[in-house]
Amino acid sequence: MAEYGFPGDTLCCVALTFDDLLRRARALPRDGRRAILGIAGSPGAGKSTLAQRLVRELNGTGERWVAYVPMDGFHLADAELERLGRRDRKGAPDTFDSAGYAALLRRLRDGTEADEVVYAPAFERELEQPLAGAIPVDPDARLVVTEGNYLLLDTGAWTRVRPLLDEVWFCAADEERRVRRLIARHERFGKSHEEAVAWVERSDERNAALVAATRDRADLVVPAEELT
Ligand SMILES: Nc1ncnc2c1ncn2[C@@H]1O[C@H](COP(=O)(O)OP(=O)(O)OP(=O)(O)O)[C@@H](O)[C@H]1O
Ligand SMILES: [Mg+2]
Repeated sequence: MAEYGFPGDTLCCVALTFDDLLRRARALPRDGRRAILGIAGSPGAGKSTLAQRLVRELNGTGERWVAYVPMDGFHLADAELERLGRRDRKGAPDTFDSAGYAALLRRLRDGTEADEVVYAPAFERELEQPLAGAIPVDPDARLVVTEGNYLLLDTGAWTRVRPLLDEVWFCAADEERRVRRLIARHERFGKSHEEAVAWVERSDERNAALVAATRDRADLVVPAEELT
């Protein structure tokens, strides 16, 4: 059992279980229309872990009525970041193809030809590069779960994202644990401890501050620790 609340913490604060989240997600597709659930949160908060568990448990065995489409797949390639002079702040809002992400969400929302699979890109963590055509969304997928840092940002093309999402949940983590896990993950993917700490302090934490400021725009705040 965990605590959760509405943004601002003024409206209410009630107990919540993972089953409650499953029920809430299950109820989103209505009138035969495909729904899109967004999960926002700071770097390393546990968004991907939470989203993947939701999708796994909603689908059960053998079903594919829920699709997982992470915002991460819209990272610009390193070659393009070099060209733009933004390689040293990879992960910042202007290092993603935000307009492309919004366009894909719109396509997923509007629906396509009856038998058309929509392909989304993935972010390949070993290569640290986006990979086109990696994630198939079946035509009969009734729910899409998307997750990423900037779903609630109100600058540039990010502003197009929120209206395309039926609900946005904000994955809130204990800050100390979040930073510790982020450093550990950078180390796991090849950085030395010093490099990992420096990257987190210089880059991830600047982005985390931007994301934290968007928390009040979420429909629901989910505490990562107890639910993932
Ligand atoms: N509840 C948890 N308890 C312990 N470790 C966790 C928990 N949730 C996530 N982690 C670990 O913390 C790290 C970050 O989690 P995750 O990748 O889900 O976060 P994220 O918000 O998607 O991060 P990013 O913004 O970088 O994509 C991972 O290594 C994951 O295994
Ligand atoms: Mg993630």
